[in-house]
Amino acid sequence: MGFDKFEGRVALVTGGSNGIGAGVGERLRSRGASVVLADVDDAAGAAVAERIGASFVHCDVRDLGEVEHAVETTVARHGGLDLMFCNAGVTTGCGLGDDFDLASYRRAMAVNFDGVVFGVHAALGALRERGGGQIVATASMAGIVAPAMDAVYVANKHAVVGLVRSLGAEYAGSGISVNALCPSFAETNIIEGIRPFLEETHFPILDVADVVDAFFRIVEGDGTGECWYVIPGRQSEPFRFRNAPGPRVDA
Ligand SMILES: NC(=O)c1ccc[n+]([C@@H]2O[C@H](COP(=O)([O-])OP(=O)(O)OC[C@H]3O[C@@H](n4cnc5c(N)ncnc54)[C@H](O)[C@@H]3O)[C@@H](O)[C@H]2O)c1
Repeated sequence: MGFDKFEGRVALVTGGSNGIGAGVGERLRSRGASVVLADVDDAAGAAVAERIGASFVHCDVRDLGEVEHAVETTVARHGGLDLMFCNAGVTTGCGLGDDFDLASYRRAMAVNFDGVVFGVHAALGALRERGGGQIVATASMAGIVAPAMDAVYVANKHAVVGLVRSLGAEYAGSGISVNALCPSFAETNIIEGIRPFLEETHFPILDVADVVDAFFRIVEGDGTGECWYVIPGRQSEPFRFRNAPGPRVDA
């Protein structure tokens, strides 16, 4: 099921204008894949697409119609879709106390969770047309552990992890894999708000290239329903969730 080569493969990358999405798009292009970057940041997306030899489509992942349009555009431009990377994400910008802001909460849930749900839904038909393919969603280490910061982000990344684990099992044997990329803090725009904290605590920050390396370990592998941690100084691997206790029946 894993890709051993990327020539002839077609990938759609949401959140592809910056950071991890742009890095993955660039590596996919250098390995021979055709790439469409989808994002709300049109200027950066067009510039990255031109630089790496990809193309760009405007897509707000909160809108199912726009995600479907991005998939249709990809298929129209390249004849199919093999790899859907549901990667767009934002931090929340509010807490649940006096600083709660309904619009910020709705935006974070919609980009980080609806965006993945819509991406999977929109891509499935095109992937089946090719006889199978891969879906990768960017969750986070915040989807595996529960840091005491941005609880809404922690919750929607846990939701992505649950979605991926469940869909991986559901689609097993269908030729479609579903996996999650779970980075720790990486050097992109998204960490600007907590950069002072990271510097103060000397928290090690990943290079985007480390996250891209982990992405390729996922798509070259045969796993599904896996959530791969990306941690500075460690080889990325699927996180081994401890089994929950099942029912116990006295004999
Ligand atoms: N950088 C980190 O420390 C880190 C750690 C763990 C997980 N992540 C996750 O990685 C993913 C990529 O983030 P990044 O670190 O590259 O940050 P980034 O800010 O550089 O990139 C995020 C991209 O998502 C796009 N985006 C935002 N809202 C969108 C929308 N509604 N529709 C389409 N695109 C939209 C932005 O324009 C941007 O291009 C996110 O899901 C993020 O939560 C990042």
